[in-house]
Amino acid sequence: MSKKIVSRSALYYLLCITSLLFISKLAISVDNEIIYSGPGDNKDGYESRDYVTKSLSINERKGEKTNLIKYAEQSQLGLPKLKIPKNNPITEKKIALGKKLFFDRRISLNNTMSCAMCHIPEQGFTNNEIRTAVGIEGRSNLRNAPTIINSAYYKFLFHDAREYSLENQVWQPVLKHSEMGMPSFGFTVKKLELIPGYKNLFNDAFPGEGINVATFSKAIASYERSLISANSNFDKWYFGKNDKAVSAEVKKGFEVFIGKGNCVSCHSIDNDHALFFDNKLHNTGVGYADSMGLLIKNNKTVVQLAPGEYVEVDNNIIKSVNQQKKKNDLGLYDITENPDHRWMFKTPSLRNISLTSPYMHNGVFSSLDDVINFYNDGGVQNELLSPKIKKLNLSKAEKINLKLFLESLVGENINILIADALFQTVGDLTKDDPNWANDKDMGYNK
Ligand code: HEC
Ligand code: HEC
Repeated sequence: MSKKIVSRSALYYLLCITSLLFISKLAISVDNEIIYSGPGDNKDGYESRDYVTKSLSINERKGEKTNLIKYAEQSQLGLPKLKIPKNNPITEKKIALGKKLFFDRRISLNNTMSCAMCHIPEQGFTNNEIRTAVGIEGRSNLRNAPTIINSAYYKFLFHDAREYSLENQVWQPVLKHSEMGMPSFGFTVKKLELIPGYKNLFNDAFPGEGINVATFSKAIASYERSLISANSNFDKWYFGKNDKAVSAEVKKGFEVFIGKGNCVSCHSIDNDHALFFDNKLHNTGVGYADSMGLLIKNNKTVVQLAPGEYVEVDNNIIKSVNQQKKKNDLGLYDITENPDHRWMFKTPSLRNISLTSPYMHNGVFSSLDDVINFYNDGGVQNELLSPKIKKLNLSKAEKINLKLFLESLVGENINILIADALFQTVGDLTKDDPNWANDKDMGYNK
């Protein structure tokens, strides 16, 4: 191996470690049993040389099954009744099948990548550890993985709003080269047919239809539709009229949200519910700043090699080892080609926001404090900046209260949804397993 290659692979290693620097962990309890919200690979205290791992192995992360259909069918305080498409009525069998598929790594070309590996349940159904998603064989993606929770309420999906239904959305990650890398619809269906067990599950969930392009996505969409979470402390106070559900600071933070901060003009609240999004796209300046390289202030990145051991790496060196040249992300413009749509991105919901860092379409902010400071500065100036974004002049106390308000938006059933997900087998299959499909010749030699 030449010297050059050695130093390059060392740098890849550094890059992987850099991604692990986004760590927020929170212990939570369900019926007095502790489960973990936050990366399973817990690195709390990693900055010190005395670090001892607290990470949990997959076998230690046992969950608890829940009948999820109630979350799709019954309203929770704070959210309107969910509309279920007429051509995909929700059933328990579809949810169970969709959940199995969501966690099954065999849906990817090389059997390594499931939906749940980017939308990680205990990390708010997103990935707290990396800014932009990494797919099979370490392939980089342009954008941050959004949470799946409450995604059933969006009129548009993806940061640039290029999809309109959960059913249609499903196939993009499956077929995308940098996500799950499957070569075609037909190959995916064929592979599922060859994995023992799926035929019966599909026939039961979709009588007379079996495994096909539509039933695959209908099953996964049904699981996603059951991941609804509201009835937060904020909802109990604001919609439930329980004065004690939140602190005085949260109430003050809410005043900032609807008043001086003007957040509510895009993160909407209605009379009897609050989605915290407006089904629109806006230019806040994040995308512009990314295109112009304005948000990265330092030209060096601090990389931690081992507990207590740091080095500084020049960003140009990091850039030089990136396999894919980063594409300029123009948001809605890439879909409509209307120059006025440059750097417009979809307004995301703020429910469960404290669980879903890092933030924005490119994951540029790792904390809510960073997001609040960004808005306080009036976003980033550009010719297409939304007129709703202005300098806010918030006091220190107003910023703290605003953050406390945002933290009050964690849904009551969130631990139940995580525990239910942890109950699912993750597709950690070996070749001895009768369910292993990799060695099948997929019919080509017959
Ligand atoms: C490699 C990581 C990765 C994998 C694997 C992955 N996703 Fe995603 N997901 C993302 C990223 C990144 C986005 C945002 C992409 C964009 O906006 O262009 C996204 C967006 C979504 C959205 C839209 C959410 C919203 O708020 O608009 C849904 C729903 C979703 N994914 C579901 C799935 C399902 C179902 C699977 C499995 C079939 C899956 N994802 C697999 C990374 C991933
Ligand atoms: C002009 C409309 C608009 C206003 C006003 C606005 N936002 Fe946003 N917000 C957005 C959009 C659009 C995004 C997504 C930007 C992106 O992905 O680059 C966003 C993203 C966020 C995020 C990150 C969400 C995530 O999942 O990544 C948070 C947190 C947030 N806003 C909070 C606030 C707060 C707090 C205020 C008030 C101080 C506010 N917003 C004002 C439109 C707005």
